[in-house]
Amino acid sequence: MLTVGGLTKRFGGFTALAGVSFEVAEGEILGLIGPNGSGKTTLFNCVSGALGSSAGSIRLRGEEISSLTPDRICHRGIARTFQIPRPFRKLSILENVAVAAHYGTNRHNTEAQARVRAREVLELVGLAADPEASPALLGAGGLKKLELARALATEPTLLLADESLGGLDLSEMHDAAELLKRIRRDLGITIVWVEHIMATLMRVVDRIVVLDHGEKIAEGRPHEVAEDPKVVEAYLGEKIVLA
Ligand SMILES: Nc1ncnc2c1ncn2[C@@H]1O[C@H](COP(=O)(O)OP(=O)(O)O)[C@@H](O)[C@H]1O
Ligand SMILES: [Mg+2]
Repeated sequence: MLTVGGLTKRFGGFTALAGVSFEVAEGEILGLIGPNGSGKTTLFNCVSGALGSSAGSIRLRGEEISSLTPDRICHRGIARTFQIPRPFRKLSILENVAVAAHYGTNRHNTEAQARVRAREVLELVGLAADPEASPALLGAGGLKKLELARALATEPTLLLADESLGGLDLSEMHDAAELLKRIRRDLGITIVWVEHIMATLMRVVDRIVVLDHGEKIAEGRPHEVAEDPKVVEAYLGEKIVLA
């Protein structure tokens, strides 16, 4: 579904991604891991068009998308969540999601249709209790759900989820992992999931790609990757949080 080839991103003299190649198969949940600063968010930024890449190719079902603007990439069916949620604070929870349903698809949803769609998505993520409330009232778990709802409202076929469990307690983490599984199973959405909580990630993903200093150092089934000496070494000195 997604083919990333030789993807390179430089910030001035610093190389954040150095020739990263991998594929995402239709219907899979791919885990993307690596120490802090290894390039995970930068990779999402390049695939979603938020950042232009310095070299390499990004193909969605064979079509090159690396020169498209973020709105066009979103309309083609790639949605992403942000590691740090930044909802529109002056809009309600419902309006935040309706904006995504209105502008994020090429379905030309009217405002009323967008609101209907937003309610459905809020129901799905478990945030339908008080849709007229301000997002300022949401805690960390609620903000992550809102972030996911905004992405889903654009009706993606590929979801890039960036570190969705940070700041959540154990039961919230479990719920979030179950929700991702449900999104794949019931909506048929392919998922790339960046997550630090390894134990939770390992239970959900089909495959894992590991980045370190902007390079792909390993790729494979969760148990293979966890035992890979290069992966163990890359994580030395950093605490891997086990759920
Ligand atoms: N816009 C930017 N300008 C300069 N450096 C950046 C920018 N975005 C990310 N970086 C750097 O690129 C590296 C990778 O960052 P990031 O992709 O956020 O890592 P991760 O998500 O794996 O923690 C880091 O060293 C970070 O400081
Ligand atoms: Mg990051």
